[in-house]
Amino acid sequence: MIKVIAVFGTRPEAIKMVPVIHQLKSQNSKFKTVVCVTAQHRQMLDQVLKIFSIKCDYDLNIMQNAQSLYQITTNGLLRLEEIYKKEKPDIVLVHGDTTTTLVAALAAFYEKIPVGHVEAGLRSFDKYNPFPEEINRRIADVLADLYFVPTPLSARNLKKEGVADKNIYITGNTVIDALLMALKAPYEAQNKQLESLAIGKKIILVTIHRRENWGAPLKNICSALSRIASRYPDVQIVYPVHLNPQVKNTVYARLGGKKNILLCEPLDYLDFVHVMQQSYMVVTDSGGLQEEAPSLGKPVLVLRKVTERPEAVKAGTARVIGTDTNNIYREITRLLSSQSAYQKMANAVNPYGDGRASERIAKAILRYCKNKN
Ligand code: UD1
Ligand code: UDP
Repeated sequence: MIKVIAVFGTRPEAIKMVPVIHQLKSQNSKFKTVVCVTAQHRQMLDQVLKIFSIKCDYDLNIMQNAQSLYQITTNGLLRLEEIYKKEKPDIVLVHGDTTTTLVAALAAFYEKIPVGHVEAGLRSFDKYNPFPEEINRRIADVLADLYFVPTPLSARNLKKEGVADKNIYITGNTVIDALLMALKAPYEAQNKQLESLAIGKKIILVTIHRRENWGAPLKNICSALSRIASRYPDVQIVYPVHLNPQVKNTVYARLGGKKNILLCEPLDYLDFVHVMQQSYMVVTDSGGLQEEAPSLGKPVLVLRKVTERPEAVKAGTARVIGTDTNNIYREITRLLSSQSAYQKMANAVNPYGDGRASERIAKAILRYCKNKN
């Protein structure tokens, strides 16, 4: 029996770790699966846990309003020490690039517990973009023993850094597993505001939260969205606003009350996936959306300087366009007014997997633990 602790703390980690937890729990003669959440996010994490019926064995409940990186790091690290010492797992699973990812991997290293990094190998090659995620994931990869990479490109990134081939498993991204689970689930809108979305309007789905975009870039983004809403009455902007006060305060102050802009609370995953399916395009700085939207055939405008997910850009469904107001306005306008430009980007491509990543991760853990003993 292999004891696995899965540690995560934010919404995107939860969405992408859920399929792995389901997979490990379905093989309960081979794995004892312990779920530990730092709750770096509270409400946005709970939304995911509830939908996918995940029960936590440990909930560190560390979130504080407007928390600093220092608070997440120290609170998370100290609490994990107790849990790892008590549970003595065979392997710790971490996901992605958040501060929870960093501390969960670091604490495992301090306890000499092997680390499996899900979604390993992504690189923007720019220390401060995204911040602090680029360095979080690099540190997690230095500490990791087993690497579950979404694409051949992420495998190549790791090999260039000297990671041994035998420890790298190209699994696909578990977000596709989660997306398929969501598309299959019975659906009824939870957020009643979604029921009033005007039929026939072109929906632009927007999410923004990155630290690099706080302040002036976010204000630029709001100006561009406001201009689009005024110029195109047949467009409906749907913008579930991240709960971070740095984001929420700016967005509600600048876009609140505008006629064809729906600002709402973060949507639960099923609502969100259904809006994404209905949408005409996606405008975002999110990592996860750059993976989900292409597989639904939705063009994605990425409001960042660089991306660690170049696969969708290469495939033609995503464009990295920065945060200049005029540029955002121009790029959205282009997709609204030129059918040929739109069609070029709207082809469904799926560089991120076939929905069986979790199955491969479970197999790799078994193999790793067998060879080790
Ligand atoms: C975090 C991650 C980021 C990830 C993002 C996903 C770090 C440093 N950042 O950024 O990599 O892309 O999550 O969304 O790990 N808040 C709530 N309720 C919630 C969630 C957040 O009120 O459910 C508010 C709190 O005031 C909290 C603040 O948002 O202090 C910031 O949360 P934090 O996790 O520090 O940063 P994010 O910007 O969410
Ligand atoms: N998402 C959601 N509800 C929302 C906005 C996003 O469920 O209102 C999902 C989205 O489908 C994706 C994930 O949250 O799977 C992305 O999370 P986020 O943008 O917070 O983080 P990132 O991916 O940038 O780390």
